[in-house]
Amino acid sequence: MVHSYSCATFFTLFTLTFSSFTSAFTSQHYSDALTKSILFFEGQRSGKLPANQRLSWRADSALNDGSSANVDLVGGYYDAGDNVKFGLPMAFTTTMLAWSIIEFGDNMKSELGNAKDALRWSSDYLMKAATATPGTLYVQVGEPYSDHHCWERPEDMDTPRNVYKVSAQNPGSDVAAETAAALAAASIVFQDSDSSYSHKLLQTAKSVFDLADKYRGSYSDSLGSVVCPFYCSYSGYNDELLWGAAWIHKASQDASYLSYIQSNGHVMGSDDDDFSFSWDDKRAATKVLLAKGFIVNNIGELQAYKQHSDNYICSLIPGSPNSQAQYTPGGLFYKQGQSNLQYVTTSSFLLLTYGKYLDSNGGHASCGSSMVTSETLITQAKKQIDYILGDNPMKMSYMVGFGDKYPTRIHHRGSSVPSVHDHPDRISCDAGHQYFNSQSPNPNILVGAIVGGPDSNDNYGDDRGNYSESEPATYINAPFVGAAAFFSGH
Ligand SMILES: *[C@@H]1O[C@H](CO)[C@@H](O)[C@H](O)[C@H]1NC(C)=O
Repeated sequence: MVHSYSCATFFTLFTLTFSSFTSAFTSQHYSDALTKSILFFEGQRSGKLPANQRLSWRADSALNDGSSANVDLVGGYYDAGDNVKFGLPMAFTTTMLAWSIIEFGDNMKSELGNAKDALRWSSDYLMKAATATPGTLYVQVGEPYSDHHCWERPEDMDTPRNVYKVSAQNPGSDVAAETAAALAAASIVFQDSDSSYSHKLLQTAKSVFDLADKYRGSYSDSLGSVVCPFYCSYSGYNDELLWGAAWIHKASQDASYLSYIQSNGHVMGSDDDDFSFSWDDKRAATKVLLAKGFIVNNIGELQAYKQHSDNYICSLIPGSPNSQAQYTPGGLFYKQGQSNLQYVTTSSFLLLTYGKYLDSNGGHASCGSSMVTSETLITQAKKQIDYILGDNPMKMSYMVGFGDKYPTRIHHRGSSVPSVHDHPDRISCDAGHQYFNSQSPNPNILVGAIVGGPDSNDNYGDDRGNYSESEPATYINAPFVGAAAFFSGH
């Protein structure tokens, strides 16, 4: 007891010291970061761009997507620096954009509309993908190998736009359940502003979930080299099934999904986390989402998820008895070398969201025998977000267009090849490589893009060829939108 009490005191002091003396950024800075983090999604748009498109160096692209299967799959997002539309990361991005708005939309002020537009750009696409052919979910447009072999603007793209799907015969429970999660989460966002759209989203979420659950299998097995090793479902599909059920339950309050969670929850043990909440692994986030049902809504059946979430959250807090996460010398959460900032934005989002849930009824997380308050969770998340924005050993922001120093040679085809507005002539697959190999900064600023980030020693080379550090991705930004909104309002 004495030990636990001194730990709690330590955390309190730590929080106070940090927030009074080391605020690198003001709420103005976080508002700016929020604006830019949403603007980034316009640069990733596929399809016909609307008249109010603000990232003006982009133009229409992939206007015939789906035609090879006689369906309309125009729209959605390119996942990162290439021109493939990958369903699993797109659905995950959609879920996280929706969750960002659900938790922190109240802090978004004038950006709320832009955030909802960014969400709708992909929820519209996922609706097409889920309803174009009954019993089928389209999960990809484009050929990763031929696409990656070229360095082409999306507007010039001429590689095959083959269409891939999952169905009863070719199951893909992972991608289908994530799509169900995305549609259900989006239905919550649009409940008040567009109830008929919200209703369609939820109905479609349920039918896609049925497909995922009735015909079990991984899309990695059904689609093989089309999705692996790019967005292979390494964690399997159990995590997405529970995550999908949790989102549909949250959106619908339908008790059958709660029963489903109760009968299937055992597939997620309590100590199997490896801090890798991402487009692939949903376990940590499912625990946090379900814990809300207990903490905020008093659903007794979900009590166990409070402890599961505490364990996960405690593991992220340096100095906590259960601390397990790795940090760079400069203090950045470090999971792995490839696109590490995706784990930073997802875990920061969970810290803030769990902190909010705890706060709503005066609770705390139990870390071993000590208590951790929501203030500590917020402090930890703030360190990570501030690091991304420039409070780091390189003294640079890892968000393009934010601050004075930021990545200039990001691994992104559209950003690095001249805009079609400046250079209307076609730039072919091979001709684009001169821009890839150039030492010059990218001509088009992909405002708001957060890149993969620095290495385990806080070094960053600003090297276009090094995609692990210099490639942005929609799923890095989506949770950041919520975190930036939180700090802009505090
Ligand atoms: C990629 O960048 C990181 C961070 O700057 C660096 O540690 C790593 O060695 C680079 N990899 C290659 C292949 O250049």
